[in-house]
Amino acid sequence: MVKSLQTLEPEMLKPGVKAPVKETLLTPRFYTTDFEAIAQMDFSGHESELKAVIEELKSDYNRHHFVRSEEFEQCWDSIDGEKRLAFIEFLERSCTSEFSGFLLFKELSRRLKNKNPLLAEGFGYLSRDEARHAGFLNKAMSDFNLSLDLGYLTKNRTYTFFPPEWVIYTVYLSEKIGYWRYIIMFRHLESHPENQFYPLFRYFESWCQDENRHGDFFKVLVRSQGKLYDNWKARLWVRFFLLSVFATHTLTVLERSTFYDSVGLDARQYNIDVIEKTNETAARAFPVILNTKHPDFFRRLEKCSENNLKLTEINSSNKPKIVKFFQKIPVIASTVGHLLRIYLTKPIDAEATREMVC
Ligand SMILES: [Fe+2]
Ligand SMILES: [Fe+2]
Repeated sequence: MVKSLQTLEPEMLKPGVKAPVKETLLTPRFYTTDFEAIAQMDFSGHESELKAVIEELKSDYNRHHFVRSEEFEQCWDSIDGEKRLAFIEFLERSCTSEFSGFLLFKELSRRLKNKNPLLAEGFGYLSRDEARHAGFLNKAMSDFNLSLDLGYLTKNRTYTFFPPEWVIYTVYLSEKIGYWRYIIMFRHLESHPENQFYPLFRYFESWCQDENRHGDFFKVLVRSQGKLYDNWKARLWVRFFLLSVFATHTLTVLERSTFYDSVGLDARQYNIDVIEKTNETAARAFPVILNTKHPDFFRRLEKCSENNLKLTEINSSNKPKIVKFFQKIPVIASTVGHLLRIYLTKPIDAEATREMVC
């Protein structure tokens, strides 16, 4: 399932500034929402929990963490070939998604300042952290004589509109999956230091605690709004977002096995571990979680990944458009079929186990 990268030179916007990767369904997205509707949300029943998570964020435990050690100051030409390209792509994707969080949280903080100062304060701390994360990753890119023009990205990326409910579900999940992605990689490299080819990975342990706190902030938002968990519609939406996030994760991780190989991780096992842990964690916020232990769960997700690679192959062939179109139909139908089957698999009732996991 290893996908060989077609070129060994990243595409440039201008000298030293990397052109952003082409936007697809799988690239990190930039979101906008109905800020007024969030301002109108009633948090009165959960103010003490909200204040507690905001106090945690205010403590700013990582204010001195994102300082580059002397270890960075060396020539990194030893990381070369496909490994270099795969690592640059990892840095770029991570930087883009951290920056996307920064923009959304900054805007939420700005728009809610007068209408809901408490929430605005929380979003302000979240944007502070994401700006640090994105900046640290962009600085890492400069070690490879590249950077991302974040101003250009702000102006030129497409912003996807999500209603507040979708934003809350998606951001909650992306913070928690981010936590597990960073901590699993950190723990792996801690026990296999020979694979730690660049010092960035050493920062992941405290870094992921930021993501964990961000997720906890969003957990309070979910639990404070009955309509987000206490009805049949919410249960269907939650299943949809869990599946979307897990399917996207599977496709992106398995497509980039070169990068995971380079740090000594088995992409397939890493994907399983991250999804299982995120799903378990989600039981603390969501009314239902997916049954990842079902024998078909990962088998079907991996089939979707194989289909995704087939589609890439079809798209990059020189065949006429009409031929490609007909070649793609059965592949897309197979993916939809697998996703639908996972979606319809009986979920696990998280409300029934709430006392055990909280
Ligand atoms: Fe972050
Ligand atoms: Fe975050």
